[in-house]
Amino acid sequence: MENITIVGLGNMGSALLRGLLKSPGLTKQGLAIYDVDPQRMSSLAEHSRVTGLGSLSEVQCENNVVILCIKPQDLHGVAAGLKGRLKPSCLLISILAGKKTESVATELAFTGAVVRAMPNIAAVIAQAATAMVANSVCSAEQRDIAEMIFKGVGEAFWTKESLMDAVTGLSGSGPAYIYMVIEALADGGLKMGMPRELSLKLATQTVLGAAAMVKETGLHPAILKDQVTTPAGTTISALHELEERGLRSMFVNAVEKATNRSVELGRD
Ligand SMILES: NC(=O)c1ccc[n+]([C@@H]2O[C@H](COP(=O)([O-])OP(=O)(O)OC[C@H]3O[C@@H](n4cnc5c(N)ncnc54)[C@H](OP(=O)(O)O)[C@@H]3O)[C@@H](O)[C@H]2O)c1
Repeated sequence: MENITIVGLGNMGSALLRGLLKSPGLTKQGLAIYDVDPQRMSSLAEHSRVTGLGSLSEVQCENNVVILCIKPQDLHGVAAGLKGRLKPSCLLISILAGKKTESVATELAFTGAVVRAMPNIAAVIAQAATAMVANSVCSAEQRDIAEMIFKGVGEAFWTKESLMDAVTGLSGSGPAYIYMVIEALADGGLKMGMPRELSLKLATQTVLGAAAMVKETGLHPAILKDQVTTPAGTTISALHELEERGLRSMFVNAVEKATNRSVELGRD
């Protein structure tokens, strides 16, 4: 692949571009960007490797990786500019919530390789959790390119298409659930008399540290939880309260609801 083009430079498109610029495996490709709002391109196009395009008609149509980072409802508009033009030598990557590989290919009248990926907002700080699926014509080389792109902004895993709505419900929307947890823990500290700033810093570092412990030790969270829960101690009192109030069910249900919403959005 000679070139990589990002279409849509909002939160995710600009994060992916920053990841691409740092990716050691993708230094040979030219990088092109396009957004309907030229303002969003101006600062990003200042980088010597990046070319800002004036319209979709300037997108290279052979040997190109085209990454769609627009909202699902804007796919129609982008399709108007790209439909039938991308040659099968291209790799099309879509991060659009709810849109299946086949429907994106159909919308663009594209017969080549398609990778559907679901990153999350932590791509902005190169800490995204991304799951990906490839269609049947995607080659091993094209899968490697997709993997390099998403590993440039965090961790990336292959899965199957039938799980992509669940991925959206878990890791795609997940940062918002954890923001709520951090906010609630900080409010707990506040209620117990802590200054707001200290409470928020302690809550944030607690979530970060706990996640890092799960990742670095490789231990199941249930084991790590048992390790810090002593008989008749403070932690078990809090855990009993969380169990009684149904914390686990709330998160399981939240992932289920978001998954169902992703299915609905895909149908719209
Ligand atoms: N944000 C997340 O946490 C997240 C996580 C996983 C996946 N996603 C997926 O990522 C995609 C992008 O999300 P986002 O949060 O980055 O959205 P965003 O910030 O709204 O960015 C989308 C960008 O695309 C531009 N755009 C609209 N129509 C266009 C067109 N025809 N050609 C070129 N550019 C066009 C938008 O411009 P205007 O604003 O002027 O319309 C905007 O700059 C969505 O499909 C979403 O499902 C998002």
